[in-house]
Amino acid sequence: MSFPEIRMRRLRSSDAMRRLVRETTLSVNNLVYPLFVKEGKKIKEPIKSMTGCFHFSPDTVAKEAAEVFSLGIPAVLLFGLPDKKDEKGSQAWAEDGVVQQTVREIKKTATSLLVITDVCLCGYTSKGHCGILKDGRIDNDATCELLAKVALSHAQAGADIVAPSDMMDGRVKYIREALEQNGFYETAIMAYSAKYASAFYGPFRDAADSAPQFGDRKGYQMDPANGNQAMQEIALDIEEGADIVMIKPALCFLDVIYRAKQRFDCPIAAYNVSGEYMMLNKAAEAGLLDRDAAMLETLYSIKRAGADIIITYFAKETSKLLRR
Ligand code: PBG
Repeated sequence: MSFPEIRMRRLRSSDAMRRLVRETTLSVNNLVYPLFVKEGKKIKEPIKSMTGCFHFSPDTVAKEAAEVFSLGIPAVLLFGLPDKKDEKGSQAWAEDGVVQQTVREIKKTATSLLVITDVCLCGYTSKGHCGILKDGRIDNDATCELLAKVALSHAQAGADIVAPSDMMDGRVKYIREALEQNGFYETAIMAYSAKYASAFYGPFRDAADSAPQFGDRKGYQMDPANGNQAMQEIALDIEEGADIVMIKPALCFLDVIYRAKQRFDCPIAAYNVSGEYMMLNKAAEAGLLDRDAAMLETLYSIKRAGADIIITYFAKETSKLLRR
């Protein structure tokens, strides 16, 4: 059968018809909203490089988190900006570190909200790399030991999910062992498994003050030209004890998300990163496109590719749009 028996336009004839046959659903349930916290009190300052995003302090972020939860968003992802940086990034695992304080604050006000913490050293080390240096190179195993300390300190503060974003080999194993040995059997690990050395993190590095002071991250983050290697990274992280695996960024890597979804049974997360967010914002500001429509189209594409969870700076706005 072909035309005229089959006319594809029949199922596009009205909004109700289009809704009836829609294959992909966007739900607020699958969104995660990132938040940036720095030391201090009563802070809520706009982040210059990221329209609509703010730097909070532990006291003000708790209020924001409660609002996020009231919009139906089940989880936030925390990034900390410490006052002091050093060679080892020791503020990253300090008991009274900015993220640890924040987790405790949020757990007081938004008790049912899931708190995910980014586990990395780049914002905490003086050189801005995701690991510690030895003879000018990133020392993989020594970094893993520190990352396990960071993750454990987040779990002790009350984090529900820890999310290592450093791309060291074996870090999920180190973290899982530390959590098990200390009785944190229920703390989940969301691993940034296929994290690419991407140009699209630009606005974030400004927001998190985490740009590398020399060189780049190509020695640990993945080459954007690779897809098979992403499958290998994900398989290894699952084997080491990851509960959720992530692909990051999302838009240039929709094929990787698709392949991961076909191949693995655990939840797949995708990070709609700062550069993807700001590209759209700037185009909308210039009057080149309809912001809401472009935002939803973007999120649909990530979901359609196979992401179960989407981490996005659009989460709050999307939740409001989806309500209408
Ligand atoms: C830290 C980290 C980065 C992002 C999340 N965690 C930056 C980087 O690796 O350079 C990027 C998030 C975004 O761009 O929205 N390792």
